[in-house]
Amino acid sequence: MSLADTAASPVPVPGTGPILEVTDLSTSFASPRGRVGAVNGVSLSLERGRTLGIVGESGSGKSVLSRSIMGLLPASTAERTGSIVFEGKELSDWGDKEYRELWGTEMAMIFQDPMTALNPVMKIGKQITESLRFHLDMDRSTAKDTAVELLRSVRIPEPEKRFSSYPHEMSGGMRQRVVIAVALACGPKLLFADEPTTALDVTVQAQVLDLLEEQQRERFMAMILVTHDLGVVAGRAQEIVVMYAGRIVEKAPTRTLFADMKMPYTEALLSAIPKLADPPHTRLAAIGGRPPDLVNPPEGCPFAPRCPYVRERCLTELPALTPVDGDDTHLFACHYPVDSPETIEIKDRLTAQGLLISSPPPGSASDGAQDGR
Ligand SMILES: Nc1ncnc2c1ncn2[C@@H]1O[C@H](COP(=O)(O)OP(=O)(O)O)[C@@H](O)[C@H]1O
Ligand code: SF4
Ligand SMILES: [Mg+2]
Repeated sequence: MSLADTAASPVPVPGTGPILEVTDLSTSFASPRGRVGAVNGVSLSLERGRTLGIVGESGSGKSVLSRSIMGLLPASTAERTGSIVFEGKELSDWGDKEYRELWGTEMAMIFQDPMTALNPVMKIGKQITESLRFHLDMDRSTAKDTAVELLRSVRIPEPEKRFSSYPHEMSGGMRQRVVIAVALACGPKLLFADEPTTALDVTVQAQVLDLLEEQQRERFMAMILVTHDLGVVAGRAQEIVVMYAGRIVEKAPTRTLFADMKMPYTEALLSAIPKLADPPHTRLAAIGGRPPDLVNPPEGCPFAPRCPYVRERCLTELPALTPVDGDDTHLFACHYPVDSPETIEIKDRLTAQGLLISSPPPGSASDGAQDGR
């Protein structure tokens, strides 16, 4: 399908309805061992101006999901199925040529490592002005003024001077601010922030996340905030999707998730929120083990080998994503959710051993900004 074909589709009234609707999206890659099922049957939607948090351990499919939506998959090995509707346009058949019209101006992405996102041999100002000139057709002088303003808006000190700096002349935190400025330059309506602060130290992380949130609110931009740390999205996303082995295993408004989480994996992630006193890369407190092999996933629940509540049924029957008591906003995929009679005794024991932490992180349940925007 080309851009011209999609122009004939019904055009939604601007500003209404979700900006993004993903239905049954699956992405796999060819590999020497067989196909890697990186994303399996994911459905989600996002309203304008809101933040969706996508949380899961490394390898759970968060980046592949984001890249699938953004059309940034390796054409030679990746296969994507399902529907992606952005601003009323079905993108599932789009190739690079069509997607290029969206990158920067409609959708943008901030990657984890600012050094790979920036060109090391180009001055940072030029990295912004090139994008402005290419996408928005600005003349040189307007692009320069706009870039300096962007650097100022992401709180780069002395932006006129910094305009002529190279990336290696800046700290990691400042470089990530530049990456944010580049991503925001052409006013995207949807921003993917894929682990935007993982490479930064803890105090700088908070500053960069605050800045992102501030820019998002000012621009009424929708944001998908991807992280392995449930604590990062706790006070910042209105809705959270928890991924495991390429699947959504729990999805809920943030407040609901922390007040009433159902999925043992979500509970384990909550226990794994890093504390300041923890050494780096502390493993999940409640459970050991690794996520399953995505070439040969287990027959039943993919979390079964690591789940403290596993029973016979879990080994053979893949749990479907199901609403909690008919509430379509809260979905979970588990045969024995954390507050069921079968799990209570085990849960009490794990909590007594200090292996489970059931209190929500600060900001997750008390912050009125969660659901109110
Ligand atoms: N280009 C690729 N080819 C083959 N496998 C890939 C490719 N990209 C990602 N994967 C695999 O897909 C799975 C999900 O990866 P990813 O989305 O990067 O995880 P996350 O972002 O949650 O850490 C992993 O098992 C990863 O090895
Ligand atoms: S279905 Fe079974 S193994 Fe999977 S998370 Fe639930 S209790 Fe654990
Ligand atoms: Mg990733």
